[in-house]
Amino acid sequence: MADTPSELRDTNAKIAGTYDRVPYDPTPIPGIDPEYVLGLAALYGAGPRSASYDVLDLGCGTAVQLVRAAAQNGSGRLIGTDLSQSACALATTRCASFGARARIDCADFLDLNAKDLGAFDLIYHVGVLYITPPDVQRHLLGLIAACLKPGGVVLISYHYGPHSLLVAGLRNTLRLAVNRDLDPREQVQSARTVLRTMARTVAQIGGDRHPMLSVFQYGDALEDSIFYHELLGEHFHPLSTAALEGALGEQGVHFLHSIGPGPQGRPAAARERAMMADTLDYAGGGYRYAVFAKTDPLRGPDPKSNVTWKSTLVREGTQTPAVFREPASGLSITAADVSAAALELLAAQPLPWAALAPAVTEKLAARGAAAKDAPKQLEDDLLALWQYALLTPVWHAP
Ligand SMILES: C[S@@+](CC[C@H](N)C(=O)[O-])C[C@H]1O[C@@H](n2cnc3c(N)ncnc32)[C@H](O)[C@@H]1O
Repeated sequence: MADTPSELRDTNAKIAGTYDRVPYDPTPIPGIDPEYVLGLAALYGAGPRSASYDVLDLGCGTAVQLVRAAAQNGSGRLIGTDLSQSACALATTRCASFGARARIDCADFLDLNAKDLGAFDLIYHVGVLYITPPDVQRHLLGLIAACLKPGGVVLISYHYGPHSLLVAGLRNTLRLAVNRDLDPREQVQSARTVLRTMARTVAQIGGDRHPMLSVFQYGDALEDSIFYHELLGEHFHPLSTAALEGALGEQGVHFLHSIGPGPQGRPAAARERAMMADTLDYAGGGYRYAVFAKTDPLRGPDPKSNVTWKSTLVREGTQTPAVFREPASGLSITAADVSAAALELLAAQPLPWAALAPAVTEKLAARGAAAKDAPKQLEDDLLALWQYALLTPVWHAP
């Protein structure tokens, strides 16, 4: 039977209350800073039309992401909303130095509407959607669609794939097995004991390569506070990209791509991109930071758009074809003429298309290499390297 509105609000208060009891104040993730989220969106023709843009964080927690957004955007509005009293208090303190342009609303999502919040260029919705009840999820997706300006961009994080579905099942078992009246620390200790017993039993029955064993290992490795929120929380619903594209697409907001490596190939239709994202999640899966935008869904990525291309690859040796190494991962790639010329230029400094394309053509001509079709090849190479997460599109104001 569906919850009444007051039962739903009680559940929401209970969920937010867990963040008062066991605070969650994560270290920031620079990879989801506005310059990268908007850089990806710019590839698809979405994003703000000026250097100043308005940011909304739905479920801002302690404002970790809003503070990063403020650093990259000198004058736009910064609105955070959350229901946890303690998270809102810390968020308010952290945002105080941004003056009147920043505001933290301590409210239940169900009590927010687009008319009061206004319209935004960028919405963050990180670590939230999958911990809320389905009726709240529907409200949130409607709110996101209604609060985005035309061309506005939203970053949503969610779990999907076989591993996440098994984690959701494990959570059901642990919640039932543990006495919820204990204090959170004792609940976690007790749940860890149950989890280890289950792991031993599953290994005895199903063998030591049973797929559930990696889920037990994952759970046991979680730090106590994450263990509490993820494995003993009120709700944990893995969500597919297709489901989100279905729900948001009806409201004019479409899936673009995720932060990080994506499936190869660049279909123009959002539903095909969503299908490819789900396929990746079925193969490996996990946690996704996905970028959606209120924009024309039939527009493919364009390396010539409003982005500056940034590379961390460094040339190794002097051999031909050129070899480049990614220092963080140690991964090496061999690059042919056009991409080698581009990567050499980008190793010195990030460059937009308008500077990169002529410089590549010039470099190839100086080496006596064929340069006539270089810009076309460059388009393909930049997008392929981006999809392998070897190049990053960084937003710059139009
Ligand atoms: C995992 S935390 C994520 C916080 C933040 N986005 C971050 O990444 O640091 C989830 C947040 O959602 C908030 N939340 C959950 N249900 C809510 C509701 N119905 N209304 C407002 N906030 C809610 C919780 O209070 C909590 O701060």
